[in-house]
Amino acid sequence: MAIWSNKFHEEMSQDAYNFNQSIQVDYRLLDADLRGSKAHAAMLGKQGILPLEETDRLVNELEQMRQDYANGSLQIDFTSEDVHSFIEAELTERLGTIGKKVHTGRSRNDQVATAMRIYVLDELTDFINQTKTAIQAIISKAEAHLDTIMPGYTHLQRAQPITYAHYLMAYAQMYVRDLGRFEDLYDRVAADMPLGAGALATSSYPIDPFYTTSQLDGFTAPFVNSIDAVSNNDYAIEFLSALSIMSMHMSRYAEETIMWSSQEFRFIRLTDAFSTGSSIMPQKKNADIHELMRGKTGRVYGDLMAVLTIMKGIPLAYDKDMQEIKEQLFDGIDHVKAMLSLLPGMLEATIVDADRMYAACGSGFLNATDCADYLTNKGMAFRDAYKISGNLVAYCTEKDQALEDLTLEEYQGFSDLFEADIYEAIDLKNCVYRRNVAGGPAPEAVQAAIERVRTNIA
Ligand code: ARG
Repeated sequence: MAIWSNKFHEEMSQDAYNFNQSIQVDYRLLDADLRGSKAHAAMLGKQGILPLEETDRLVNELEQMRQDYANGSLQIDFTSEDVHSFIEAELTERLGTIGKKVHTGRSRNDQVATAMRIYVLDELTDFINQTKTAIQAIISKAEAHLDTIMPGYTHLQRAQPITYAHYLMAYAQMYVRDLGRFEDLYDRVAADMPLGAGALATSSYPIDPFYTTSQLDGFTAPFVNSIDAVSNNDYAIEFLSALSIMSMHMSRYAEETIMWSSQEFRFIRLTDAFSTGSSIMPQKKNADIHELMRGKTGRVYGDLMAVLTIMKGIPLAYDKDMQEIKEQLFDGIDHVKAMLSLLPGMLEATIVDADRMYAACGSGFLNATDCADYLTNKGMAFRDAYKISGNLVAYCTEKDQALEDLTLEEYQGFSDLFEADIYEAIDLKNCVYRRNVAGGPAPEAVQAAIERVRTNIA
């Protein structure tokens, strides 16, 4: 029997009840709901809405239920309509009539909205910590590769030499922004505690949402508009957006790893800790984990799209459609959390072949820009220098040579500005070291960037 069964409403059909149920999904809100209910009960006592001896018993029993659930002695009844009904039924079982009083001055709408916000704040705290751990792992790997020169690409064509450290730190920046999104969202959720909003129009009891807020860790302020408090799911959409963006970052990295560990590149190799074998081809080491990350990213986008689509046409305030959002949000949280937790191990399992990376810089004219810059430094207009450098590339391509292989006489045939120091100018290592601009690939600049990120996440 549902908690809302009464004379006015006869029993539902079993099929409809089953369809309406959400406990298989929302059971994970149990602890969050118990915390929300405790805060509500404490407020009822403080405001004199219920006698203090009753609210004390409610608060203590709700805390006892938290502990019982944590130690496994409280079993959820999965025939309940949802976790919120289960908690009220269990509390009533334990306390008799007093248990039934916990719902005074609240609705399941503000109760659910609050449990979800509590749950989300917990999850955001996890994501904030785990993102910092991932960034630290990136920093450690980068510090070991400040001098590891590799080709940088645009359009997947060899473009200019960079370092592996600089490449990795590009990802650190992405995760720093992801971190900022989680932190911003945390503050926004914390400042909009929904309990007290009631079904949609608050309560006729003298409730005090500010006091309820003070009883809930992390929250800073109650809702500003009771209709909005129980009808918006912006926090879920924002969370899934942040998760989608973060998983997109992980997916790009995964894609590069898959590509770079192929025989065609062989820039990196995955240890057995993060690769799989083939059931038929004994020579294979496949990057399944990276592929799965890339695949799960699509799934997380799906979660975001599902929630946006569920929300787009539902009238204010609460509608049952909103129950459906939880499953999508939990799915996104679970999968991105699993991906994020793999990042440090993944980096560790990535063995860099610095010689192959350096050798790859030897073809593809990654120093052609530097050749043009050389002439510009000698007074030639850049556009003319660009043309001459291009002619040199064409000449080398014809002869199947690199810019480094040409004699000074050959250079001077293209411009008399060329002198013996051209070789130093186009030396690949120099090409990297010379780009000692803040935010650039030179080891000193990357080290400075690392220090900035370190300070940022401290
Ligand atoms: N399980 C429901 C949900 O999560 C509880 C809210 C019920 N409120 C209502 N007005 N029917 O959405």
